[in-house]
Order: sequence, then C-alpha cells, then structure tokens
Amino acid sequence: MAGGEIMTMPGRILGIGVGPGDPDLITLKAVRALEGADVVAYPAPLEGESVARKIAQPHIPDGVEELPIRMAMDPRRYPQQDVYDWAEGEISARVEAGRCVVILCEGDPFFYGSFMYLFERLTRRWPVEIVPGVSSLTACAAQLGMPLAARDDALAVIPATLDEDDITARLAAADTAAIIKVGRHLAKVRRALERGGLLEHAHYIEHATMADQQISQLADKKDETAPYFSMVLVHRRGAATR
Ligand SMILES: C[S@@+](CC[C@H](N)C(=O)[O-])C[C@H]1O[C@@H](n2cnc3c(N)ncnc32)[C@H](O)[C@@H]1O
Repeated sequence: MAGGEIMTMPGRILGIGVGPGDPDLITLKAVRALEGADVVAYPAPLEGESVARKIAQPHIPDGVEELPIRMAMDPRRYPQQDVYDWAEGEISARVEAGRCVVILCEGDPFFYGSFMYLFERLTRRWPVEIVPGVSSLTACAAQLGMPLAARDDALAVIPATLDEDDITARLAAADTAAIIKVGRHLAKVRRALERGGLLEHAHYIEHATMADQQISQLADKKDETAPYFSMVLVHRRGAATR
C-alpha cells in the first residue's frame, strides 16, 4: 500500500511485474493476482500489440475485461500526461464499482517502469499493491551468463538517452554497468565505451528471454541498429569473479 489520504476502497488495484519476456518468468504472486482480476489494464502502442500483455497472455483468465492504455511510443511526447489522466479515471471508476484491477508492467514496476506515472496518480486516492517482477537487469545477466557485481563492486544503471560525455563519466565511476534504453543510441554507447577502454568487455543483448533473443560481444556487432528492448552489460575487470 502506498499514498497519503487513502479512501476506503470498494475494489482493489494491483501493479504487477510480468517479467522480461518469457511467460515462465512471472511470479506465483503475479499469476494469483491475475486469477483474481476483474479487469486487466496494460500499456500499449497506438496500434498493435502490448509487450506486457503478450508476456502475461498465458496467465490472463478468459472473460476478464481488458483495458489497453494506448499511447504513442515516442520519447519526445513522453510521459503522456493526458493518457495517464484518462487511465486513472477509467481505473478509478472500476474500483468504485468494487472491481479488482490488475495493471501489467513489463519487468518490474518500479525499475524504470512507465507504470509509476499511473501509480503516482492512483495513490492520491487509492491504495495500490505492488507485486515485484523479474527485471530485465537480472534477466539479461542470466541470459549472458554474466554475474553483475561482486564484493565491493559499484553497479551503475545508465540510460543510453544521456549524452556521450555523461555516459563516459558514469562508466568511469563504476566497476560494472548496465546501459539500458540502447535502441537508436547504440553508436553513442559504443563511442563512450571506447573512450573508457571498455568496449572489449561489453556484452550486447536484445529481447532477453523472448523468442527472438539476440546476444553478442558488442565489438562483434557490426551494425548500429538495436531495438528498444536491448541492453549492454559491461564489467571493468571483464568478469565480476576476477
Ligand atoms: C523503460 S525500461 C523498463 C524496464 C523494466 N521495468 C524492467 O524491470 O526491466 C525499458 C528498458 O529496459 C530494458 N529491457 C527491458 N526488457 C528487456 C529485455 N527483455 N531485453 C533487453 N532489455 C530489456 C531495455 O534497455 C529497455 O530499453
């Protein structure tokens, strides 16, 4: 439960992590939440499939109401306050009617999840229960067979949306790093790693645990195209165990 002035609640709201892609990487608690849902809400592009819904699909019971929260996946329009305001109203109306609303979040809800914009609005009125999920950070490390950090290592999570000097400085201050939101920023990420002498230790992964997962040493990846769901993991010593 979170928030300040909480109203007595006719229904229930849960924000659940559905994990990074493999539907088996959802927690038992999240599956149980879905089994008790009257309404399943999820972020979705203006057209096409929701990643979170696709991951949770095998666990969504027949007959529940679905509430797609559609928005343009354009970082220049992000976050889309009008869409979150609308979604807050739709969810609140269902809670007032005594229904249980489960909101799907890719990975973990509180690890860079856009869910937090909705959470901030909903918790002005209602308690919101959070079910943590397997995040892409640990899923990528697992798929790469690369322990993230050991002993006194300082781990940095660095959004690739930062500028090149900032990424370079943050890499220099860390023993080990996860560079997220790689997408169209891959060339810049590569330059920052080269400047820090870290390119040879950098591992690239896209769509971790999904059917189309791709893995390579970043130095071996010859093109600069990457999907949004991609990450670079790098350890200064080459491996946390050294
Ligand atoms: C907005 S953040 C959301 C993270 C998510 N809440 C989590 O717990 O993993 C999106 C970024 O997470 C990373 N990501 C999420 N899922 C991924 C996956 N299956 N494979 C690789 N990277 C992923 C990518 O770097 C992507 O740009």
